[in-house]
Amino acid sequence: MKISPSILSADFARLADELRLIEDFADYVHVDVMDGHFVPNITIGPLVVEAVKRSTRLPLDVHLMIDRPERHVESFARAGSDIITVHAEATKHLHRVVESIKELGKKAGVSINPATPVSVLEDIIGDVDLVLIMSVNPGWGGQGFIPGSLRKISAVRRMIEAEGRPVELEVDGGIKVNNIKEAFDAGADVFVSGSGVFGARDYGATITEMKNRCMAKTGT
Ligand code: DX5
Ligand code: ZN
Repeated sequence: MKISPSILSADFARLADELRLIEDFADYVHVDVMDGHFVPNITIGPLVVEAVKRSTRLPLDVHLMIDRPERHVESFARAGSDIITVHAEATKHLHRVVESIKELGKKAGVSINPATPVSVLEDIIGDVDLVLIMSVNPGWGGQGFIPGSLRKISAVRRMIEAEGRPVELEVDGGIKVNNIKEAFDAGADVFVSGSGVFGARDYGATITEMKNRCMAKTGT
């Protein structure tokens, strides 16, 4: 299992320091890119991704919450993204954008919003490296986990097993120490946490505790 802290909840004025504090504990750095169209909020672009890349050795897990992501995957790839995830709802040509991410030498992910059925993944799951299930409506950090996401995680886990190929199953939104185990038991193996990590006093200890909770026997 992997923890991918979302820098959306980090202190942007001290980003390099914040990244240093998670470096020895986290597995990825989750970067939330928002365009003010696909979601109401606007966050960061390729220039900041490039700066993050220079400040950490961890792989960059870049979540594009932008309309028509095909326009921008190349610049995010050049900025140093390792995984580029696009939303199924944001493009008319999902297969084409997934292929172009892979042609750029990056891992390709597809994400779905809370109200999007997992069935939209059926004909793309064979082509992706990662599926990202949104467990909040994308736009902001610090929202509550939507419980119905657990059923979707289990359904996608079954799709991945049927596929018989390694595909990471990431969950994003409202993941904290006290609920991560439920998402783990449902079948997720990469956990985004923004406020759950950067809102904690000790980031490293919190990430370690998240991992311990997942490994603990169910019911303990
Ligand atoms: C939401 C973003 C998430 C967010 C998670 O639109 O995609 O990655 O930063 O933040 P928390 O963990 O605080 O819900
Ligand atoms: Zn995200």
